[in-house]
Amino acid sequence: MSFKNLLKTSLFGFPLESCLMNASGVHCTTETELNILLDTNIGALVTKSCTLEFREGNPLPRYADIPKGSINSMGLPNNGLRYYLNFLEENELNNNKLSVLSIAGLNKNENIELLKLANTCKAVRIIELNLSCPNIAGKPQTGYDFDASNVLLQEAFDLCQKPIAVKLPPYFDESHFESMASVLKKFPLAYVCCVNSIGNALWIDANTNSTVIKPKSGFGGLGGMYIKPTALANVRKFYTLLEGVDIVGCGGIQHGLDVYEHILCGASVVQIGTTLWQEGIACFERIGNELIEIMQQKGYTDINQFKGKLKEIQL
Ligand code: DHB
Repeated sequence: MSFKNLLKTSLFGFPLESCLMNASGVHCTTETELNILLDTNIGALVTKSCTLEFREGNPLPRYADIPKGSINSMGLPNNGLRYYLNFLEENELNNNKLSVLSIAGLNKNENIELLKLANTCKAVRIIELNLSCPNIAGKPQTGYDFDASNVLLQEAFDLCQKPIAVKLPPYFDESHFESMASVLKKFPLAYVCCVNSIGNALWIDANTNSTVIKPKSGFGGLGGMYIKPTALANVRKFYTLLEGVDIVGCGGIQHGLDVYEHILCGASVVQIGTTLWQEGIACFERIGNELIEIMQQKGYTDINQFKGKLKEIQL
């Protein structure tokens, strides 16, 4: 048995060779980037959140590395839905990874149009409906509006036969976890991905007295180590509130130990964003090997042996 077998998992019943995948937005905007991802040993691949038409995105600089993470306000630069459907169709046969299409319409009608079109594409296995892009001026994140999320999901499931997943913003209050969970429970979701970047953070450079990114007066989505505790809390909460629904963990994954912690909180799969941006695709091999080493030390042969098994501290 190859040690790599230790990383196997499943998502919505689809068997995956690895519990690691990219986070939407990182290394998945162009065909070149996507082709490179196809050559790595990840279990699933998600495309850049797309709109119906090509978008240039926000003015540069719109991404910055910061000491323990990243801040971005990309503004949904993407090549439009058709481009990503074509890519997935062209690579359907030589692709042993689960193909996930991420969509992020700028309003409900655009999301409905995206869903209708994606629904007809055989190569799309799961649609990740992004309810949490923080970077479009004047467009609040749908995931913070529970009624709007409910209405959108109802229409989405009414019109679309394909599996639909959601990417959520981070929640911070107990009542918000519960309100969102009561909406999500109504629908047979393929998975729930927790969390998107913590929106509207501000990083500044005191040497220059200025912001480090340009759009939205320097405000952008925070990623990396800063957000791991929030990500773990969201994974844990939704894992316990949404019994039986697969959780995809995202936030602060730099090492195998971070993946281990996400899985312990209940994640079936994890998405890697900031570290993939900073280190490139080599991070998957490194992080996978680090996780294998931890599992071997602890005597686990399968991630299901510790998935969700977080214990409360005993005094
Ligand atoms: C963008 C950022 C996000 O966090 C997201 O979920 C979708 C899009 C962006 O700015 O492009």
